[in-house]
Amino acid sequence: MKKILYVPGVVVALSSLLAVNAFAQAKPDVLVKQRQAAMTLQGKYFGPLGGMAAGRVPFDAAVVSRNAGYLEVLAKMPWDGFDASTSGEKSNALPEVFSNTAKFKQAADHLQTEVGKLVTVSKGGNEADTKAAIGAVGKACGGCHEDFRVKQK
Ligand code: HEC
Repeated sequence: MKKILYVPGVVVALSSLLAVNAFAQAKPDVLVKQRQAAMTLQGKYFGPLGGMAAGRVPFDAAVVSRNAGYLEVLAKMPWDGFDASTSGEKSNALPEVFSNTAKFKQAADHLQTEVGKLVTVSKGGNEADTKAAIGAVGKACGGCHEDFRVKQK
């Protein structure tokens, strides 16, 4: 009985905490750090798969399937960090990110579609199909970087 009496208090405390978070707008420099962190993690979990598709790393279906699952979540994360408030911050995002938001969103959606396909295909265990799906994800990453990221040396 005692436990039940405490519950409403906990719920109230939790929901007010969530409300504060929902309305607090992160500072532009923090948004940049967060989107770069999400990109960095995509790089971490996509890197080995790209190596497998290119034949540089031995194919490992279990690693592909696991990393594809991570990427499915990570590929949702960077986008709200490209908020207009960040357009003046120092970063590798080209001005087109903020001037051609429709095309940028299309490229972000395209990545999520291709990652979704990779998740499905990687569960089937067909090596050739999986490598092709990895290639399509790599193109989705590279295509957006080509249009929207400062060229890397
Ligand atoms: C819709 C566009 C888009 C897609 C798709 C995209 N990126 Fe990026 N990525 C960017 C932009 C823009 C930057 C520069 C961000 C910045 O400097 O704030 C970036 C930066 C990065 C960085 C450098 C992060 C840092 O710390 O500066 C890595 C690594 C990266 N992306 C990996 C990936 C991988 C891997 C994929 C695919 C799984 C991917 N990206 C898909 C737009 C994209």
